Amino acid sequence: MERPRRNRRSDAIRASLREAYLSPAHMVYPVFVQEGHGKIDPIKSMPGQSRLSLDELLKVCETASSLGVAGIALFPVVPEGKKNSLGDESWNPQGLVPECVRAIKKKFPNLLVVTDVALDPYSSDGHDGIVRDGLILNDETVEVLCKQAVMQAEAGADFVAPSDMMDGRIGAIRKALDAKGFTHTGIISYCAKYASSFYGPFREALDSAPRFGDKKTYQMDPANRREALREARLDTAEGADLLMVKPALAYLDVIRDLREFSDLPIAAYQVSGEFAMIKAAALNNWIDGDKVMLESLLSIRRAGADLIFTYAAIEASKLLK
Ligand code: PBG
Repeated sequence: MERPRRNRRSDAIRASLREAYLSPAHMVYPVFVQEGHGKIDPIKSMPGQSRLSLDELLKVCETASSLGVAGIALFPVVPEGKKNSLGDESWNPQGLVPECVRAIKKKFPNLLVVTDVALDPYSSDGHDGIVRDGLILNDETVEVLCKQAVMQAEAGADFVAPSDMMDGRIGAIRKALDAKGFTHTGIISYCAKYASSFYGPFREALDSAPRFGDKKTYQMDPANRREALREARLDTAEGADLLMVKPALAYLDVIRDLREFSDLPIAAYQVSGEFAMIKAAALNNWIDGDKVMLESLLSIRRAGADLIFTYAAIEASKLLK
């Protein structure tokens, strides 16, 4: 008779046979940044997360760096007065994001800095692309995204991460970066990004919800699995360095598919709604929040993700110590 329990008999045996593991080196911490000084504005639906001014952000980077967290991803809160229909502020070299990138890379050269390439925080329409007559324009948007990515590379970002889901943007951004001499700047493509309802708290944090309609003409249908492979094939051919699946927990099958299909590293984004659900249940004492968080992150690794974007990067890293 086979007795699989023999391999589960003790901590020592279990530890020696463990297949997947989690470490701070696998985590990227997404942070919300805002203008000003000394600002820490808590985000109600994301307990423990806040909109930070640059001075406070640097303190968080210090903690992340000392814990061995791989890097941080920046998401700006843009004042209403700086938003317009073309998202012009997105490629302003004196803007908030490039200012943060320069400051972080100066103080913490070993902390990876990932910048988001998309127009939504800068768009008065709250869409990832330029809107005309109610439609999201593809090629016109890609031109702006290229300017945004080059500006971020100039500021010193290690990776630019297009999260907009326009067609052809990876190839265009790669070409624009190379033309300006940024052959060393990597691209993390949000390749299988779904039109998900799990992004609610994020949009509240940035006040970036679409002002009309939804994002279904560019983000993917949650029902589709094959379509993720198609996006992966295109983004790979266009020059992506990593492929990302987003959200993570409800899309573990897609993470596994991309892991098996591709020889590129795979990233997954544990999004705001996933984080919020765990926190809310924990606050009610319905679950053990720390354990559920670690189990959730471990499952994402087991499914095949190399890198996880998670708002729990700092707390999980502390728990792992
Ligand atoms: C937008 C963007 C979104 C997230 C990351 N980049 C929201 C959206 O697509 O509407 C969501 C992340 C999260 O929910 O944590 N470019």
